[in-house]
Amino acid sequence: MSAKKLFIQTLGCAMNVRDSEHIIAELTQKENYSLTEDIQEADLILINTCSVREKPVHKLFSEVGAFKKLKKNGAKIGVCGCTASHLGAEIFKKAPYVDFVLGARNVSKITQAIKIPKFLGTDLNYDESDFAFKDFRNSIYKAYINISIGCDKHCTYCIVPHTRGDEISIPFAIIFNEAKKAVSKGAKEIFLLGQNVNNYGKKFKNEHKKMDFSDLLEELSQIEGLERIRFTSPHPLHMDDKFLHTFSQNPKICKCIHMPLQSGSNEILKTMKRGYTKEWYLDRALKLRSLCKNLSISTDIIVAFPGESQRDFEESLEMIEKVRFEQIFSFKYSKRPLTKAALMDNQIPEEIASKRLEILQNRHYEILDEIVKKQENQIFEVLFEELRADGEIAGRTDNNFLVQIKGSEEFLGQMKQVKITNARRMVLYGEVV
Ligand code: SAH
Ligand code: SF4
Ligand code: F3S
Repeated sequence: MSAKKLFIQTLGCAMNVRDSEHIIAELTQKENYSLTEDIQEADLILINTCSVREKPVHKLFSEVGAFKKLKKNGAKIGVCGCTASHLGAEIFKKAPYVDFVLGARNVSKITQAIKIPKFLGTDLNYDESDFAFKDFRNSIYKAYINISIGCDKHCTYCIVPHTRGDEISIPFAIIFNEAKKAVSKGAKEIFLLGQNVNNYGKKFKNEHKKMDFSDLLEELSQIEGLERIRFTSPHPLHMDDKFLHTFSQNPKICKCIHMPLQSGSNEILKTMKRGYTKEWYLDRALKLRSLCKNLSISTDIIVAFPGESQRDFEESLEMIEKVRFEQIFSFKYSKRPLTKAALMDNQIPEEIASKRLEILQNRHYEILDEIVKKQENQIFEVLFEELRADGEIAGRTDNNFLVQIKGSEEFLGQMKQVKITNARRMVLYGEVV
């Protein structure tokens, strides 16, 4: 029987990317689907959605509307992911031609969803932490591995706990086997995923030996042939001394860390319910900088959270001066349903939000240009992963700079020493030495 065709579009974070890999694995290995990039020949069209800010949610309905126009007769449309979780049956009301709705945390039900008319799988308590998914990866060299699902921090701006449910850790044996298998198939790097990875081990579905995130990192680093370990996102609150020690001492752990700050004002951090102060954050960040040579720190910052005064905003700017982040993902606060902050009555006008975002991004770029300039003439070990146009190939340094050189397939999956000859804001150009 010839394979049916699957078209899948993935929005959102790395967890969604991994969920899409799981969906592809289940459908190609259990249901005779093969992937296509041509929507018009697809028998099944999936969109894996993100809800973290408002804009992509608005776009969802125009996008599925466009899918409907393009799809061939009889092809099905499924809405998956975080927006599916919190809108649920409302999606059928607004877009009656959608065949099924499958929320994040219900990914393992995909093989049922395609068979049952108007299937709705959005149970936030559904526990698939020990489900053995079939195997599919977008990249041979870099393997995404979930280590926990969900989040129950309930930061007051964030919808994620309402789309992915409470936090639960994936059993060590599953993670370890997945990592070993990926390495045996050629992976050099594993990328551990969870909303608060360094809270690993607080709760498992069944009996489980005691284990925290630092223990997990140490165990995984024993895998022979594995060269690099990355993870996202750790929560600044859970960065205890044991974690700082493991992170800085273990040579397989890449020296780049995402430390989501959100705000530099203690007042705002408290209203956000982040659980740490700017002093704690700074202490952790600067300790890490002193423990690790060439560390990169990336962060997330929200501007114009309800009640953010000019002074609060300036405190976020002060944190940028002190930490000198290598990368900042910055966002205007976006009002999300089901969150406490959406009900706060001191929302900030759009013009102020846009201005603050612009100021913050401009200052970050100035600092980044200085950081980047210093990389010229330095030598880095780069793992090459991706072919680029014009006979170029790209990869990352241990501390996560994107490096591009002249080269082709023979470099894929290889670690090479590269000297940086021309350092640009987004890419460091260099040559193998
Ligand atoms: N678990 C991660 C964050 C996941 S969401 C953590 O705690 O850091 C990714 C980022 O989106 C967040 O760090 C935050 O900066 C941003 N974000 C979440 N909700 C938002 C909202 N309502 N408005 C603007 N940005 C938001
Ligand atoms: Fe959202 Fe906070 Fe959980 Fe991160 S820790 S996913 S920001 S609720
Ligand atoms: Fe978006 Fe869900 Fe990730 S809301 S950021 S896809 S956890």
